[in-house]
Amino acid sequence: MPPVAPSRGRSRQNDTGAAPDVAAALLAWYDRHARDLPWRSRPGTVPPDPYRVWLSEIMLQQTTVVTVGPYFADFLARWPTVEALAAAPLDAVLTAWAGLGYYARARNLHRCAQVVAADLGGVFPDSEEELRKLPGIGPYTAAAVAAIAFGRHAVVVDGNVERVVARLFRVEPPLPAAKPELRRLAGTLTPDERAGDFAQAMMDLGATVCLPRGPKCLLCPLEAGCAAGKAGVEQDLPRRQPKAAKPTRRAVAFWVMGPEGELLLRRRPEKGLLGGMMEVPSTPWRAEACSAVEARKAAPLKTTWRELPGQVRHTFTHFHFEVTVWAGRSEEAAPEAEGAAGRWVPLDRLADEAIPTVMRKIIDHGLTHTATQDD
Ligand code: ADE
Ligand code: SF4
Repeated sequence: MPPVAPSRGRSRQNDTGAAPDVAAALLAWYDRHARDLPWRSRPGTVPPDPYRVWLSEIMLQQTTVVTVGPYFADFLARWPTVEALAAAPLDAVLTAWAGLGYYARARNLHRCAQVVAADLGGVFPDSEEELRKLPGIGPYTAAAVAAIAFGRHAVVVDGNVERVVARLFRVEPPLPAAKPELRRLAGTLTPDERAGDFAQAMMDLGATVCLPRGPKCLLCPLEAGCAAGKAGVEQDLPRRQPKAAKPTRRAVAFWVMGPEGELLLRRRPEKGLLGGMMEVPSTPWRAEACSAVEARKAAPLKTTWRELPGQVRHTFTHFHFEVTVWAGRSEEAAPEAEGAAGRWVPLDRLADEAIPTVMRKIIDHGLTHTATQDD
């Protein structure tokens, strides 16, 4: 393991002196321990396809590598190029995305593919500045794509990188206030060469060694230069400002079986949360629980309702959601055309619909509690 003790005065563009050693030690570690992920090329070889890098980075925001794996493979199999993705119907993209959450991201993904295919000849721009102009590409994604796909010197900071940097430099002020300082410090470490490998090495170190709980400092290539490790305070960093408690919203969802054993679904408005995705019809989502009288008024059709036991819970970014499910049957053929009232979807066709995770849970709850009863 190369020594990475701070050595002042050896580096160009930083105030730590340890930067070149940290980068060299980390890259040497990455050459041996990089995770083999489907959107990567081997460390130190040719840069990977920008389309794959962009797609993976959009998918990986706030989702784990393990979750993303099958989605990434599925997208690439269906749409191997940015032109293919641009030509796909939006609904097919939303359906393939279902389960990854943050559905506005899937719309932006599709729009971005269209801009790149139509306006840029299918070629992703190679600078952070130009990448930032594309739909759905913020500072993080622009830096990640510029560094990983184009080898640009870009400072890539995600949650893993923040944790590693907070520990290396023993940054005591809490997140999120410490973000600018952590970014600045990450900048002092980022090398001019192999910035993409460096960024991914930081991510891998955070994901496999410098773990949130129980960092494996004995296996860490940066241990000799780690301020938190030396002081024995690595477990406490980064500190976090306690978050305000999330509010809870509640609703009654109407789980309705049609004459042929289909389920009643409707499409959500294009704008807003879960925009354009399919949903189980429900009352408005509010802080207060909905009374039975109100729920009956909000129901998509008239039938005999049975309240299912238990509740469905789901947590969104900004609130918890608690759903009571009412089950009913309808002998009517299709309710009104898609939109207001909804449409019947055969149970074996649910996989073809853009159904977000919260609605999957509601559907599963209905299936579980009605399967054994012929009501
Ligand atoms: N998380 C976000 N982007 C990543 C990448 N390229 N490799 C590993 N983890 C990541
Ligand atoms: Fe993280 Fe420990 Fe390595 Fe420091 S020595 S960077 S705390 S794993």
